[in-house]
Amino acid sequence: MSDLVRMTGIDKHFPGVHALRNARFELQPGEVHALMGENGAGKSTLMKVLAGIYQPDAGKIEVAGEEVTVAGPRAAQALGIGIIHQELSLMKDLTVAQNIMIGREPRKSFGRLDEGELNRRAAAALASIHMNVDPRTPVSELTIARQQMIEIAKALSNRSRILIMDEPTAALTDSEIAELFAIIRVLKSEGVGIVYISHKMDELKRIADRVTVMRDGEFVGTVGAAETPVSTIISMMVGRALTDEAVRVPDLAHAPTALEVRNLSRGRVIKNVSFTLRRGEILGFAGLMGAGRTEVARAIFGADPRDGGEIIVDGQPRNIRSPREAVQAGIGYLSEDRKNFGLALGMDVRANIGMATLKRYSDGFGRIDEKGLAAAARKYVASLTIRTPSDRQEVRLLSGGNQQKVVVAKWLLRDCDVLIFDEPTRGIDVGAKAEIYRLLASLAEQGKALIVISSELPEILRVSHRIAVMCEGRLTGILPGGAATSQEDIMHLATQRDTISKEHAA
Ligand SMILES: Nc1ncnc2c1ncn2[C@@H]1O[C@H](COP(=O)(O)OP(=O)(O)OP(=O)(O)O)[C@@H](O)[C@H]1O
Ligand SMILES: [Mg+2]
Repeated sequence: MSDLVRMTGIDKHFPGVHALRNARFELQPGEVHALMGENGAGKSTLMKVLAGIYQPDAGKIEVAGEEVTVAGPRAAQALGIGIIHQELSLMKDLTVAQNIMIGREPRKSFGRLDEGELNRRAAAALASIHMNVDPRTPVSELTIARQQMIEIAKALSNRSRILIMDEPTAALTDSEIAELFAIIRVLKSEGVGIVYISHKMDELKRIADRVTVMRDGEFVGTVGAAETPVSTIISMMVGRALTDEAVRVPDLAHAPTALEVRNLSRGRVIKNVSFTLRRGEILGFAGLMGAGRTEVARAIFGADPRDGGEIIVDGQPRNIRSPREAVQAGIGYLSEDRKNFGLALGMDVRANIGMATLKRYSDGFGRIDEKGLAAAARKYVASLTIRTPSDRQEVRLLSGGNQQKVVVAKWLLRDCDVLIFDEPTRGIDVGAKAEIYRLLASLAEQGKALIVISSELPEILRVSHRIAVMCEGRLTGILPGGAATSQEDIMHLATQRDTISKEHAA
């Protein structure tokens, strides 16, 4: 049987970047083929070449045994190639149905849009992934996770026989991931070939048949998923073995309190949350999706109004009503939705890193000390290994994971005393994750107080000195960090739903 896809000798240059060097990739029908590699390794670029979004400088693409030129996205569609992009590419102002059917809108006579049919076809696509949403809903009203599901419905409704999924689960909940995997299994059984890009190592064993690893734009190897240990795949990715240390919990009994939150509340999403955070401490925030962790962060940061509660920074009560006031009080927040709140995509790396710190680099007359800013930017580009040809590169041209590192750099440069990291390693590769964990630990050692929100329990356990657990807007408990706490202990508190009787008792 011939391969469904065979890419060989693929080369691609961007200005200043040799993104693909003699890369290759093969896909069989009915196969889930994982494509792995560090941030910037060239995964998305290789798949964009297959999907007709980029033209390669050299190389050969065969589909079902025939050499093809994929001249553009429409040509790709005609060849049965569908792609779900890493960056959500939906039109926010259009409805769910308009997005799913874009470019394929059903017409009545005289070319008039057949709106009823449009919504019916979209509804069928949504039903095929068991998604319960009115097709007429504007996409802007959906959460990121649900937007991701719309992307999937859109790609599936094209009847693709080759389906590329670029980090489809980065923003999905566990149950949505299970749902997606069920859909993938059905597609597999129908002979669809699936390219699966992810940084989540556990997903390999759950869903992939084979794994191809790329490094620096080059092909490293293709191996079977079941018989290859994860550690082997990691060393193929990073070119060395990674050692992962456990968290070391410092004794902070005498450390001053950096932040105290008392009875924070907001509608039904935050219910009387109180905790303290010491200098040098990393307080993890665990909980299921929707438990209220991001809401707490946003309320502390002044991004959302609060109904009640006190925020005391360094012993001083602070009436924080906006992010600006939060930053003035020494609090920084690294949002989970970096696309919308963290980055100016059209600006360069240097400007983005300096964005929260411009005052320090300006002379008060609107003139910026570009030299100082450049030096600071380059320092972080090096220490966080941000892959970019220079600090003048526009952020939108960086790979997904490297964009995230730019946001991290921005807040590090701002030098806040209290830093809130919301899902800091989402989309970040294993090697860079380890770097970020070390960085969090060293920030704490320098006396900063950190809150780290994460949906990944191993990550919470890996970084936290103490672990606050939330469920349905309440803080259900604070656990010690380190070996004293297990994933089960956290899950127990994360599912401790409020009962009526408890509310009466309180
Ligand atoms: N349009 C572009 N212009 C310039 N450089 C680009 C462009 N697209 C990608 N690159 C660069 O090509 C390299 C490969 O990027 P790519 O997005 O393929 O990485 P990736 O493996 O998907 O990484 P990640 O895991 O972070 O998503 C990176 O150095 C990136 O900055
Ligand atoms: Mg990518």
